[in-house]
Amino acid sequence: MTTTHQTPAEILTHVDAGVMTLTLNRIDKKNSITAAMYGTLADALESANHDAAVRVVVIQGHESIFSAGNDIGDFLKNPPATQDSPVFRFLRGISSFPKPIVASVCGPAVGIGTTMLLHCDLVYAGDNAAFSMPFVNLGLCPEAASSFLVPQLMGYPRAAEALLLGEPFSAETALEVGLINRIVPPAEANALAQRQALKLVAKPLSSLLETKRLMKKGNAGIVAERMAEEGASFGRMLQEPAAREAFGAFMEKRKPDFSAV
Ligand code: COA
Repeated sequence: MTTTHQTPAEILTHVDAGVMTLTLNRIDKKNSITAAMYGTLADALESANHDAAVRVVVIQGHESIFSAGNDIGDFLKNPPATQDSPVFRFLRGISSFPKPIVASVCGPAVGIGTTMLLHCDLVYAGDNAAFSMPFVNLGLCPEAASSFLVPQLMGYPRAAEALLLGEPFSAETALEVGLINRIVPPAEANALAQRQALKLVAKPLSSLLETKRLMKKGNAGIVAERMAEEGASFGRMLQEPAAREAFGAFMEKRKPDFSAV
């Protein structure tokens, strides 16, 4: 059976043949993610977790853009004030999701566009993918336990380059450091993610769940703890002068001036 919902249209949720596909669909705003979109993603993951008809989740964007990260204007209007805010619900949901998650990433993957991939099991990227975690450039600090998972994955020197300088890195670098599984032409990435998801659907779910749980077990406690600590700092820093300057500069399409912060 095939069901298609669109709530709201910026996130498309489609369930077919055991796969729930979540498509970021706000292309005119570069798939930047609002609080409402985080809420939809968090709800979809929760329902996928409990729905026996869903064995695997696929997260994808558009051939030209995965996600520009948090919607900056929306973040200013609706800052995540508590741990129950939609962005933190989404992060807790994806980081503890028990079933396999496959991601397809093309074009820019900024901020949470990159850090959410640390919680996916298989990641396929278009050769146009560009990953970045520019939290420092926005007067913020890492989220999604990336302050722990990125150094663990890449080693400290490369993590420092990615998180302190916040510069984008290519699909080749992402493959080399182990953030992604394979690079393909952008037009093929979503189809590859679906093929790999269908391979997982054919496997015994009980074995997938137990294997994923065992692989993640060593990090699970520290990831939850670090995410809460990062979330508290992130929420506080959003209100401080450095972030105000960075976000104001983005809205006014000018370079930020951090000389006073
Ligand atoms: N929040 C809100 N709006 C965003 C956005 C974001 N994170 N990223 C892009 N947009 C909007 C732009 O304001 C623009 O809107 P407009 O057409 O009304 O002016 C539209 O999306 C297109 O963006 P633009 O920057 O012109 O596209 P681009 O192709 O030149 O660049 C990016 C794409 C993703 C590289 C660039 O948009 C970018 O760096 N965005 C900010 C990323 C960021 O700092 N995210 C926060 C992480 S916490």
